[in-house]
Amino acid sequence: MTEPTGAARRRGPFQVGDQVQLTDPKGRHHTITLEAGKSFHTHKGAFSHDELIGRPEGTVVRTTGNTQYLALRPLLPDYVLSMPRGAAVVYPKDAGQIVTMADIFPGARVVEAGVGSGALSMSLLRAVGDHGALYSYERREDFAEIAKANVERFFGGPHPAWKLTVGDLQDNLAETEVDRVVLDMLAPWECLDAVSKALVPGGVLICYVATTTQMSTTVEALREHGTFTEPQAWESMVRTWHLEGLAVRPDHRMIGHTGFLLTSRRLADGVEPPLRRRRPAKGAYGETEVPEKPKPGRFLRMAEEQED
Ligand SMILES: C[S@@+](CC[C@H](N)C(=O)[O-])C[C@H]1O[C@@H](n2cnc3c(N)ncnc32)[C@H](O)[C@@H]1O
Repeated sequence: MTEPTGAARRRGPFQVGDQVQLTDPKGRHHTITLEAGKSFHTHKGAFSHDELIGRPEGTVVRTTGNTQYLALRPLLPDYVLSMPRGAAVVYPKDAGQIVTMADIFPGARVVEAGVGSGALSMSLLRAVGDHGALYSYERREDFAEIAKANVERFFGGPHPAWKLTVGDLQDNLAETEVDRVVLDMLAPWECLDAVSKALVPGGVLICYVATTTQMSTTVEALREHGTFTEPQAWESMVRTWHLEGLAVRPDHRMIGHTGFLLTSRRLADGVEPPLRRRRPAKGAYGETEVPEKPKPGRFLRMAEEQED
């Protein structure tokens, strides 16, 4: 049985051409690509790549200056955060949410735009697998080239499920009968006609947006469009932990904001979106009226209305 694309480079002893992440005693990372006869130099001395080739992952090498480096293959999140970037990448915490919450399954036909540096493309390719399809659209040729190089370096060559097109999604989207659409761009609302035509009934649209104004515009455009279900939005925050003896506590610093995620599903053709039963909150659509002074019992009634 042939191994899935890229799998052969994820296990076994180090080989020529492998990426290796070196960790120094202070926890700093350096990524190298193994070449026979080549050396890795730092101001703390050097060591030859040959010392790693043929050795198992988790090996420790020593420089001529006696500094130790732990050698491991970078995991996908390590790779994404250290690879060359054109545009900002989708962080691993959000890529994980996208793959799970948009239900990206092996064999799925997925459309993605924009591609940027290709970070999310790699998670999507892994999820759809060799027998799925990822159709990626990127308007900037220079970014598309960076993404192609990043993806091919990670998988050790072209991925059989990937088709990359340079151009705006809304003008070029050629695929139909698509299961999932993933949008990471400034103006996802401009793509809704094209996305609606491409998605199968029940297909999932997931949008990754950086600001609340983008989120609000996208939500209202989805409602207005009439072919999508009521959208849902959320964000995720990941807090890493300091682990030292009895000092086990959250780290002082964290990435406080990356983006918001928004999902909606394609209705069957000719179906009217069900009426929203919940009354919009006062001011939600820009009303300027001053809220009435609350009367006894009013908060209880408002809470009941929201439960409806
Ligand atoms: C934030 S980056 C995407 C990053 C990417 N998801 C990653 O993980 O590396 C947004 C990209 O969308 C592209 N873009 C914006 N609007 C687009 C459109 N309508 N069609 C195709 N690409 C678009 C931009 O050129 C930019 O490269």
